[in-house]
Amino acid sequence: MAAKSRAWFCSIFIALFVVSSISSVTAGDEGESKDEPSSVLTLDASNFDEAIAKHPFIVVEFYAPWCGHCTKLAPEYEKAASLLSKHDPPIILAKVDANENVNKELASKYEVKGFPTLKIFRNEGKNVQDYKGPREADGIVEYLKKQVGPASAEIKSSEDAANVITEKKVIIVGVFPEFSGEEFENFITVAEKLRSDYDFSHVSDAKLLPRGDSLVKGPIVRLFKPFDELFVDSQEFKVEALEKFIEVASVPIVTTFNKDPANHPFVIKFFNSNNAKAMFFLNFSSEQFDAFKSKYHEVASTFKGKGISFLIGDLDASQGAFQYFGLKEDQVPLVVIQENDGKKYLKPNVEPDQISTWLKEYTEGSLKPFRKSEPIPEVNNEPVKVVVADNLHDVVNSGKNVLLEFYAPWCGHCKKLAPILDEVAVSFEKDSDVIIAKMDSTANDIPSEFNVRGYPTLYFSSASGKLMQYEGGRTAEDFINFIKENKDSTGQSQTPVQPEPTIEAKDEL
Ligand SMILES: *[C@@H]1O[C@H](CO)[C@@H](O)[C@H](O)[C@H]1NC(C)=O
Repeated sequence: MAAKSRAWFCSIFIALFVVSSISSVTAGDEGESKDEPSSVLTLDASNFDEAIAKHPFIVVEFYAPWCGHCTKLAPEYEKAASLLSKHDPPIILAKVDANENVNKELASKYEVKGFPTLKIFRNEGKNVQDYKGPREADGIVEYLKKQVGPASAEIKSSEDAANVITEKKVIIVGVFPEFSGEEFENFITVAEKLRSDYDFSHVSDAKLLPRGDSLVKGPIVRLFKPFDELFVDSQEFKVEALEKFIEVASVPIVTTFNKDPANHPFVIKFFNSNNAKAMFFLNFSSEQFDAFKSKYHEVASTFKGKGISFLIGDLDASQGAFQYFGLKEDQVPLVVIQENDGKKYLKPNVEPDQISTWLKEYTEGSLKPFRKSEPIPEVNNEPVKVVVADNLHDVVNSGKNVLLEFYAPWCGHCKKLAPILDEVAVSFEKDSDVIIAKMDSTANDIPSEFNVRGYPTLYFSSASGKLMQYEGGRTAEDFINFIKENKDSTGQSQTPVQPEPTIEAKDEL
């Protein structure tokens, strides 16, 4: 279940940030030049463990050759690897082609759910963290240099403090009279654990901190944040309690999604959360914006700790989200709620005063879910039938044998498969028991019984309702043989067949 919700997150995340560039994705190679020696280490299942054991600090990119963002990252990653190759202590950048069959187990071991995924391996792989830094060379270098240094940096002067505590980020500062003892050690443990998410510092004199003069001697942890109440203190020093404090205190009541990159870490956190997600999209430049914003904030405050996270998104930055959720600009201002199982609820053209009531109805379970679907095609006479979200269940449960492809228009492998599926469909044209169908999964919601993590994904549903993922070969012959072996008679064919033994009959045997 957890794996499933994470998969959801990945696709949402991709949709929000990158749909605009996804359309330019072509099926191609990593785009590296074969002539120059690479500073990036190429790993695979055979040498992976050895490399992780050998290098105390190594970053691994899991990529797929067809992934456009991987192609875009490649030259930056290469440049960063070259810049970092002489760093002391060493920082090694490596990559794994997660699309290769031999490497799929590695990718699954490290929970790679989207591409590119970058992971930092420390201490012979005993400590594995997600890379959450920038994706251009200088940013990668700067982020990694910081990651390889101490997890918490000491603040020794007001200048240090001013440099560390900026208006843009969550910063966690421990105030300790002495840098020793259980509380300090626990603080450092938490800093090690969460260092890729937050910046940690420690200080012995709280007067060095902004707004610090009234502070007690410590030990105390002060979390600075660029939103809501601006800072929160805690005196929890048990590792788990401190982590929990940081997690809760660092989330804004309402996450802002616009083109400002400073907000993106919070947006990522928003989508990483296991909560239901309420998203309010409107034009930030519109006259009503302030009224809506304060109303939404007010409503969100009343839901704190009740399992719903809140985001407000600028129409201007949200094309990807609109495409992903199947929303239209003339529905703005709108609120959409997405649950972890993918169920969605939509309130288009909302008025400020309706937000609270609508959310109440949502929590009471009295709203009907909303489904993204293309219109059901009126003409559908190509060999491969077009299925949309609104008729998918009718087709799959039609009592026929259905081979169904989930595809994306930009996916190169899907394009390659198209003429093959045509051929398969033509070969079954005389057999009314068999349907070959396809659904554009970027324009239609995929029901939860289909586990679609990449494109193309194929499923076969037999006439009697057995559903299985197709994982066989990709030639027309492979498909045809598979369908012949697995199809059930629908009772419409000429030759009567023995009915499947029922459970009772089997028991009697
Ligand atoms: C948002 O509103 C401003 C001001 O009314 C307008 O100029 C702009 O075109 C709108 N943006 C979108 C994406 O509709």
